[in-house]
Amino acid sequence: MGLDVERARQDTPGCLTVAHLNNAGASLQPSAVTNAVIAHLQLESKMGGYEAAARAAANVENTYAAVARLLSCATNEIALVENATRAWDMAFYSMTFAPGDRILTTSAEYASNAIALLHVAQRTGARVEVLNDDEHGQLDIADLARRLDHSVKLVAVTHVPTHGGLVNPAAEVGKLTRAAGVPFLLDACQSVGQLPINVAEIGCDLLSATGRKFLRGPRGTGFLYVATSLAEKLQPPFLDLHSATWTAPYCYTIAPGARRFETWEGNVAAKIGLGVAVDYALGVGLEAIERRVTELSELLRTRLSEQDGVTVKDHGETLCGIVTFSVDGISSADVATQLRAAGVNTSVTTAANSRFDPRATQDLVRASVHYYNTAEEIDQLCIALPVAAQT
Ligand SMILES: Cc1ncc(COP(=O)(O)O)c(C=O)c1O
Repeated sequence: MGLDVERARQDTPGCLTVAHLNNAGASLQPSAVTNAVIAHLQLESKMGGYEAAARAAANVENTYAAVARLLSCATNEIALVENATRAWDMAFYSMTFAPGDRILTTSAEYASNAIALLHVAQRTGARVEVLNDDEHGQLDIADLARRLDHSVKLVAVTHVPTHGGLVNPAAEVGKLTRAAGVPFLLDACQSVGQLPINVAEIGCDLLSATGRKFLRGPRGTGFLYVATSLAEKLQPPFLDLHSATWTAPYCYTIAPGARRFETWEGNVAAKIGLGVAVDYALGVGLEAIERRVTELSELLRTRLSEQDGVTVKDHGETLCGIVTFSVDGISSADVATQLRAAGVNTSVTTAANSRFDPRATQDLVRASVHYYNTAEEIDQLCIALPVAAQT
C-alpha cells in the first residue's frame, strides 16, 4: 500500500492555510500531536502539574519506547531532552580530550556543533579536523579511513546538513569507526523522520535529533541515543537529582543508561506529543516517507532548474527533502519573504552558519518537502517565485 497523502493532509490542519515547504525548520504537526499536547496542558490546569505527570506517566514512557522503535534500539538507550543541540552537547561535553587528541568532523557540520568542537578544542588542546568531501560533495570515506588512527578520539558527523540536500554516508562511517574503536556521534537532526534510521545498521554510538522537524513533533523536544556499551563510560557535564542519586552526604551515583543525560524538569506535554508524533511517523512508515520525499524533492529541483535565473545548489550522491537554491539578482531573504506573502513557507540558510563548507558562499533559499506536500504546492512555489533580475 502506498502512502495515503489525502489522509495525511486531512490529519494536518495547516495544509488548509499554507503551502508549508519549511519542514527542515519545523513541520506542520498532525492534529493527533497538537491534541495530545493540549490534552495534557488541560489536565495540568485541572489537577496540577505533578499530579497530571503522575497520571500520564505511561504516556511519557511510551515516548521512550516509540523513539527506541524508531531507531531500533533499547528504551534505556534514549534520553529525552529539549532539543537536538542539547542532546548533542550532553554527549559531546561528556567526553574527555587531551592535547594532541584529534576530533574528525565534516564540512556539513551544524554551526552549534562546530562552535562546541572549537570551544572544547581550545580548552583541552585537542585538534578539530574537517574531512575532505569526495567528488559528489559528501564526506570522503577514503579520507576518513586515511585519517583514523589511535589519536582520533571522536568522529562527529552531521547526517543531513541544515544547508543542503546532501545525505552523508553514515553507515560507511560506522563501519570504519567500529573497526577503529572510535566513538561515532551522529547528528541526525535533519534525517530522523524523513529517512529510516537504524542505529545498529549505521553503527553510531551516539545520535542526537529534534522533535519539531521531519518528525512533526512539538517544539522544545529532542532526544539522544546512547549505546549501552558507552553510557556508563560517559560522565554527563552536569548532574541533578534525576540524572544522579545523592546516596550519602558526600556521595552520589549516576543513573544508569541514557537517562543520566536528562534533567528533572521538563515539558511533559511536549514529551507526550513527541511520542505521538513518532508513533504517527511509524504508522505512515519511514520507507514510504523516504520514497515520497525523494519523489517530491526531485520534482522540486527539476521545476526550479527550469526557471530562468534560478540555480539549485544541492550536492551529494544521495539527496533528500531539503532543496536549496538562489535567484539571480534577488537576495534569498527577499525571495523567502515574497514566497511567504504568497502563502508558501520556505526559509533561508546562511553561509555564515556553514563555515566549514567551502561551497557555502552565499545565503540560500531552503525549501524542504515532506510526504504531506503535493505537486500542486511545488507549482505554487514556482509560480510565486520572484523573477530573476537580468544581468
Ligand atoms: C543538522 C542540524 N543539527 C542540529 C540542529 C539543532 O537542532 P535544535 O534547534 O533542535 O537544537 C539543527 C537545526 O536546524 C540542524 O539542522
